Formats: sequence, C-alpha cells, structure tokens
Amino acid sequence: MQKYDYLIVGAGLFGCVFAHEATKAGKKCLVIDKRTHVGGNVYCENVDGINVHKYGAHIFHTNDKQIWDYVNQFAEFNNYINSPVSISKGKLYNLPFNMNTFYQLWGTKTPEEAKTIIENQIKEYGYKKPKNLEEQALSLIGKDVYKTLIKEYTEKQWGKKATELPAFIIKRLPVRYTFNNNYFNDKYQGIPIGGYNKIIDGLLDGIETKTNIDFFENKAELTALASKIVYTGKIDEFFNYKFGNLEYRSLRFENTRLEKENHQGNAVVNYNDSDIPYTRIIEHKHFEFGKQNHTVITKEFPEEWTKEKEAYYPINNEDNQNKYQQYKALSLKESNIIFGGRLAEYKYYDMHQIIASALQKVKKELS
Ligand code: FDA
Repeated sequence: MQKYDYLIVGAGLFGCVFAHEATKAGKKCLVIDKRTHVGGNVYCENVDGINVHKYGAHIFHTNDKQIWDYVNQFAEFNNYINSPVSISKGKLYNLPFNMNTFYQLWGTKTPEEAKTIIENQIKEYGYKKPKNLEEQALSLIGKDVYKTLIKEYTEKQWGKKATELPAFIIKRLPVRYTFNNNYFNDKYQGIPIGGYNKIIDGLLDGIETKTNIDFFENKAELTALASKIVYTGKIDEFFNYKFGNLEYRSLRFENTRLEKENHQGNAVVNYNDSDIPYTRIIEHKHFEFGKQNHTVITKEFPEEWTKEKEAYYPINNEDNQNKYQQYKALSLKESNIIFGGRLAEYKYYDMHQIIASALQKVKKELS
C-alpha cells in the first residue's frame, strides 16, 4: 500500500531539502539512509563539544542571498573566514595566492613587483595549448608558484603525475594582488553555530526518517511504499552498473584527539610535499573558535577508490562522462523517480549549489 507521496533515498542535503519543502507543501515523505546517521557528507560527530566534520571539512559559502537566508532559517552562522595556509619544504605560505604568498616566495612588497615576476614566468614557460595539468598551471601562474604550492599537492590528490593529468582540472588559478587571505570570494560565509547537524535536524523536523536502510536491500518493498522516489544515491548502482562503474577519488580520514588546546593555530593547513602522504590537517575546533582544553585533528589521505569505499570526487574524464550520459538517458525514462544530488548526477556540487538544485527540483515537481 502506498503510504507516502515520496520515498527519499538518502538523507544528505539534497534529500533533506527536498523532503522539507515537499512536507511544507502537504506531502507525506519517508526519508531513508543506509548510514547510521542523517546528514550525508555534512554530518558532524561531536567529540566533547568539538564538531568533527566526519566526511571532510565543510565551509559554507555563497553569493546567493536566497540560499543564505534559507540556511539561516535553521541555524545562525558564525563569522568564520576560511584562510588556509600551506607548508612547502618547511616554509609556510598563505593561500589563496595573494600578496602575502608572493612576499613569502620572493619578498615582493608591491603588486607591480609580483605581477612582473609572474608575467615573466608565464612568458618563459607559457604554452599556447597546454596538453596537461603541468603545462596548464605553468601557463597560468609560472614556475615558482606551481613548483612550490601546486605540483606535489595535486599529484598526491589525484595519485598521478601532473604531466599525466588533464589540463581541464585547473580551469583558472585565482591570483590576488591584494593582501587578502580570504579563500572564498563569496559575500556570505561561515559555519553554522551548533554544527551542520542543526541544519539537518531543522530540515527533517517532523518528517519520518529511518537510518541503516539500504534501498537496494529491499527495493521492491520500499518502492511500493510511495507514489514517487527521490533517489540521491549513485546512479550507476541504481542501474546495476549496466554500463560499468563510474569512477571516483576517495579519501581516508585519520582522526586524533590531542590533550592540548591548540595544535596548529588554523582550521586548515595544507601539506604540499610529496614525502608527506596526507594533503591536509584539519583542526576542527577553529571552525567554531573553540576554547576547549582538548582538540581533534584529522589527517586527510587521498586514496584510490573501490566500491567498498566512500565515493568523494567524481573523475570527470571522457570515459566516465560517456558512461554517465548513458545512465542519465536511462534515468530520464523513469517517470516516477527523481534523480538528484552529487551521486545521482555524478557531479561535484558545493553545499549552496546542492541546496539550489534541490529547491529547483522540488519546485518543478510540486508546481
Ligand atoms: P550526500 O553524499 O551528502 O548524501 C547522499 C546520501 O545518500 C548519503 O547519506 C548516503 O549514505 C545515502 N545513500 C546512498 N545510497 C543509498 C542507498 N542505496 N540507500 C540508502 N541511502 C543511500 N561543499 C561546500 O560548500 N563547502 C565545503 O567546504 C565542502 N567540503 C567538502 C569536502 C569534501 C571532502 C567533499 C567530498 C565535499 C565537500 N563539499 C563542500 C560538498 C558537499 O559535501 C556536498 O555538496 C553535499 O554533501 C552533497 O549532498 P548530497 O545530498 O548530494 O550527497
């Protein structure tokens, strides 16, 4: 018997926003997730007052006032500004590339001096049509920034030599000729006070939710419960990998609790060098200006992806895009199923983009 208007598979941001809006419009929803908790990748684990971003550091940022107002309904945001630093060959550099970074690299104090160095290096190494990531980076920023802050980090991140990586991975490299370490250019930025779980709890308030349920373990029975399904899991899995796996890059997180107040003085510290196997250390308390006597740090190790691991970053090469297009064509024939979210669309989305996408899809569905 159909008890629900919508069965929502996946309690990540996409599924939760869809469920919230549909419920507000009078529809009955059931949200399920195969994990032991709701929230998908924005879920935080509370370690004695410190919100640990379990699936990687999450910093909210947007230029869209509507999306900002939307999330602020559920939680107030603090004024955290992301200003990561990067360690390369024992020296510390500010990110994103700006006048502080150029001073640290060359001792330059004016935009003209820095610009001259970068432009000369671009001329020296510039490629008309870059054939790989290395050539692309050299043609955009020159050799010093590339060798000190991009090459080894990127090679660790993707597990491949920069000369074997496609140029399109780096579309542009933001360069600022101001002393401004604010990583994002967006007007609105911060971390929800009380963590992302507060937003998820607000979105799911009053909605029936079940965790520890894998849609595929009971597909027929679950499908029969609702008139329509909103599916936010992996699209290739939905079609039983008919055209083969869509590939991802995975991450392994190693969390350590330390009995000291402050370990690295910043939420995000990148490790550029190839002899250090992790790419970043996150110290979570700094996202919320925590004053606890203890701290929790997470080392982030990029890894090859296999089906048993978490799928983090889609590998957007031609082969995967062709496969995805085949899956997408099949999904368009499923009139009772709405596919949405990063896994069903095989696309990297930031949080504000996933919220916008869910709002747009639910509006279309309900109109
Ligand atoms: P999400 O993956 O969150 O949810 C899908 C859910 O479906 C999961 O909970 C999963 O368990 C469930 N599911 C899948 N298959 C199922 C099945 N068969 N049965 C039941 N349940 C199933 N964005 C940003 O704005 N700022 C940032 O700083 C970051 N940082 C960041 C770091 C890292 C490492 C990554 C990978 C991503 C980010 N993001 C980000 C992006 C952000 O994580 C992303 O936009 C949202 O989490 C996407 O929400 P979804 O609902 O699409 O997927």
